[in-house]
Amino acid sequence: MIGIRRVSPFPPKMREATQDAVTRVNQQRLWRRHMEMARIGAIPGNGVNRAALSGEDIIARKLLIGWARARNFSVAIDGIGNLFVRRAGLDPQAPPVMTGSHMDSQPRGGRFDGIYGVLAGLEALEAIEEAGVQTRRPIELVAWTNEEGGRFPPCTMGSAVFTGARRLEDFLEVRDNDGILLRDALASTLAATPDAQRREFNFPAAAYVEAHIEQGPRLEMDGRTIGVVTGIQGLRWFNIEVFGETAHAGTTPLAARKDALKDAVAIINALAELTRDDSDTVRFTVGRMLVTPNSTNSVASHVLFSVDLRHPDPETIHRLGEAVEPLAQKSASHCSVKVTPTLADDPCVFDTRVVDAVEHATEELKLSSLRLPSGASHDAMYMARVCPTGMIFVPCEKGISHNEAEKAKPEDLAAGAKVLAATLLELANG
Ligand code: GLV
Ligand code: MN
Ligand code: MN
Repeated sequence: MIGIRRVSPFPPKMREATQDAVTRVNQQRLWRRHMEMARIGAIPGNGVNRAALSGEDIIARKLLIGWARARNFSVAIDGIGNLFVRRAGLDPQAPPVMTGSHMDSQPRGGRFDGIYGVLAGLEALEAIEEAGVQTRRPIELVAWTNEEGGRFPPCTMGSAVFTGARRLEDFLEVRDNDGILLRDALASTLAATPDAQRREFNFPAAAYVEAHIEQGPRLEMDGRTIGVVTGIQGLRWFNIEVFGETAHAGTTPLAARKDALKDAVAIINALAELTRDDSDTVRFTVGRMLVTPNSTNSVASHVLFSVDLRHPDPETIHRLGEAVEPLAQKSASHCSVKVTPTLADDPCVFDTRVVDAVEHATEELKLSSLRLPSGASHDAMYMARVCPTGMIFVPCEKGISHNEAEKAKPEDLAAGAKVLAATLLELANG
């Protein structure tokens, strides 16, 4: 691990510089930028549909690059389109302290999931720049490609490839619901930013801190402003395909059918039974289904559906994950079944040095806070494999997320950006 020391009280000079930077976090600018980004891919009900590697994603990237260049921050991009914005440090050879999140959204997403971490990171960089604080390490903002996985599954793809957990080649043939290949969408995205310097995957980072809306109700319920995130629960994703035979809905006897949709429903019911949990800790979701030929009066010949399984305990998520394929095979009566695992992330626990640094910054800023784990997944999960990592949560109304109605308060967003700026400064001089 790269020389991040344990947290100690800020020395007086550093404390002054940090205070100066933190007071320059500009709530209005941060909010205005959220609203400007929300116009890109805006959908009714204040929502956002900004799919990864889409035309809207490209427009959002250009807007971010424009803001970065206006400050003379350098801009780079890697082979999967992860975008890097760097504020130089005194030691250009020192691995940077990194922050960031994602600009893609769910198909019916809100205005804060992901984009908050990118804009809070930019706000922190700008505040530090305005205060003229010099840091030993560079501080680098990253906008990860395809965190959501809503268009091209699985999620957290950019950070998985960046950290070497997965290979870019493994994702190039993934198709979206319209049959478009990730390979082609990525090529258009890379071509749209020809003047960004090209970066290698997996360059060393000293630490990574990601700001995000909580996407759950804990902070709001407890009346706290900042969530000091301790880790992320484990998850498993699968694509399950059921192969049947199309036939006439009015004439074909039931006994003679190979109805792919009926078998898909049987599999889903069996999985729901497997994951039934009185403590309501297991998360089981079937959120995507493609039916062929998708006609009222034809028996379905093919169904593809997704499975998203989550649990904080490593043994439980492993056991449930292992049970999916045999149960799916057993539950189909007339059709053949193919199960493809697309994601397997064990629960992660964040490095105490970063968790403590976030908490320390929160105390220095006299903000109320709560330590809590993350139910949602984030790019921080992969970064935690390669460098000390942590996250900062801010409240969102009623915990609503992956929904157009997602809401967060300007003052909470600014508070999170202040904690981020202070944490980055502490880590960048460590
Ligand atoms: C990220 O959006 C997740 O699915 O947790
Ligand atoms: Mn997110
Ligand atoms: Mn999300």
